[in-house]
Amino acid sequence: MSLTVSKHPIVRIALSHLRNKDTTPEVFRRELHRLSQVLAVEATSYLTTSVDTVQTPLAETDGYELSGQQALIPIMRAGSGMLSAFLGFLPNAYVWHMSMSRNEKTLEPEFHGSKVPAKIAWNIDTCFILDPMLATGGSACLAIEHLKRAGATDGLARRIIFVGILGAPEGAERLMKAHPDVPIFIGAMDDRLNEHGYIMPGLGDAGDRLFPTV
Ligand code: PRP
Ligand code: URA
Repeated sequence: MSLTVSKHPIVRIALSHLRNKDTTPEVFRRELHRLSQVLAVEATSYLTTSVDTVQTPLAETDGYELSGQQALIPIMRAGSGMLSAFLGFLPNAYVWHMSMSRNEKTLEPEFHGSKVPAKIAWNIDTCFILDPMLATGGSACLAIEHLKRAGATDGLARRIIFVGILGAPEGAERLMKAHPDVPIFIGAMDDRLNEHGYIMPGLGDAGDRLFPTV
């Protein structure tokens, strides 16, 4: 079981912009991207490399490449705000969008569809789930169940990693209990959920702040 809460100062600063109710969607998108870049660096520290040689202008030395293939799974809508930061570090990653939304009454996620292949190929070593908010943990668990059914963790050295911006203790506990094999990387752990299932103090509705509809 592993839960990593970033200690990076850039994360704290970017998160303060995201929390601020007066932050415009334009700035919200930019700060989410900046924060996601730091999380991308932290969450990809698990990846392994293979070594080859590289010729510098002066000598031959070791050169490194990622040894496996990765997949990025942004959870619609809000997860799409983290995608380009991750693609910046993993430009050859596959991208499997997954669509779900929380039912406002039950707070349970409703699955709308995904581009995850029916059977995940053997060359995929890591699936990164990208979703800014880990609130009750229902959406993260549903995404993981879907990926596991498609074989994401079958075989040795294949794993799913969850990356989020903000977590609530309730959601992190649920996720760690249901899927102790899935490392979690988040930007901060907040205090609790309110009676509507929102993270407190939080940043509000991440999807609406990224992509306002009215
Ligand atoms: C938000 C968020 C997560 C989910 C987290 O999405 O992006 O996917 O809620 O809540 P949970 O941990 O309680 O499941 P939402 O369903 O509101 O959809 P949106 O991204 O379209 O706003
Ligand atoms: N989804 C959000 O967008 N925000 C929350 O605080 C909880 C779930």
